[in-house]
Amino acid sequence: MLNTIVTTDRKNHKESIELAAYAAEKLGIKNVKRNRAALPEMREEYGVDNILVAKKGSFVLDTLDGELFFHPNMSQLRIKNIRMGDEDHMTAAMDLKEGMGVLDCTLGFGADAIVASFVTGEGGSVTGLEASPLISFVTGEGMKHFLATNYELHSAIKRVNVINADYNEYLKTLPDKSVDVIYFDPMFRHPLKDSHNINPIRAVADHRPLSIEAVNEAKRVARHRVVMKENSRSLEFARLGFDTIVGGKHSKVHYGVIKL
Ligand SMILES: C[S@@+](CC[C@H](N)C(=O)[O-])C[C@H]1O[C@@H](n2cnc3c(N)ncnc32)[C@H](O)[C@@H]1O
Repeated sequence: MLNTIVTTDRKNHKESIELAAYAAEKLGIKNVKRNRAALPEMREEYGVDNILVAKKGSFVLDTLDGELFFHPNMSQLRIKNIRMGDEDHMTAAMDLKEGMGVLDCTLGFGADAIVASFVTGEGGSVTGLEASPLISFVTGEGMKHFLATNYELHSAIKRVNVINADYNEYLKTLPDKSVDVIYFDPMFRHPLKDSHNINPIRAVADHRPLSIEAVNEAKRVARHRVVMKENSRSLEFARLGFDTIVGGKHSKVHYGVIKL
């Protein structure tokens, strides 16, 4: 169903072998001993598009469009800029403060969730929902195993609570006004051509557009704001009722805001 097998890298360390077995059990996918085989050969032999590779205490998902793995690159840079006093457009759109609770409905590789976790701090909370079991697994395990040298980044990563769920279903289970900010960063309707780093994610991500029903649920569940990120020229903001737009004049992405 997931069109994926799991294996280890060629070093076949004991830790990687254990991780591969864990992934196979969690995701219900076939665990294949690596030996010396190259990934394209294994892809052919087992008739799958994706191979999850356990290596060095974490996972890389090899898709037909490239490799996917968790790394807090972008969030690290954004946190550094926030600490230097620069404004982060996403947290400004959220009007995010220490101690707030955030539900990130589209976790992906978690960069936005980590930045939100840094800003909300130890007294806040960030939950990230991800519909794709593979992305949710790679991000969740990556966050669990990643060792950041900087304590604040490290603790921001560890505080993110990762849940493999579809926001369309999950939002319905939450009480009214139970989260401060609800955030959506769906796959763009019209992807930015130079956004190479997001391209491999396309192979395994959920591409459904955000619906008016989900926005209405988010408006019921959120106390403070509902925020959506999209291509700055997107018509999605108007279609879904995000009436305030935040973002740089020349920026390729904007944040639509619904203030509650
Ligand atoms: C553009 S990426 C998000 C990137 C993320 N903001 C980051 O900082 O890495 C969109 C993600 O949302 C997920 N997604 C799309 N629809 C979803 C849904 N209904 N429920 C949960 N996740 C969903 C996709 O699978 C994809 O991983």
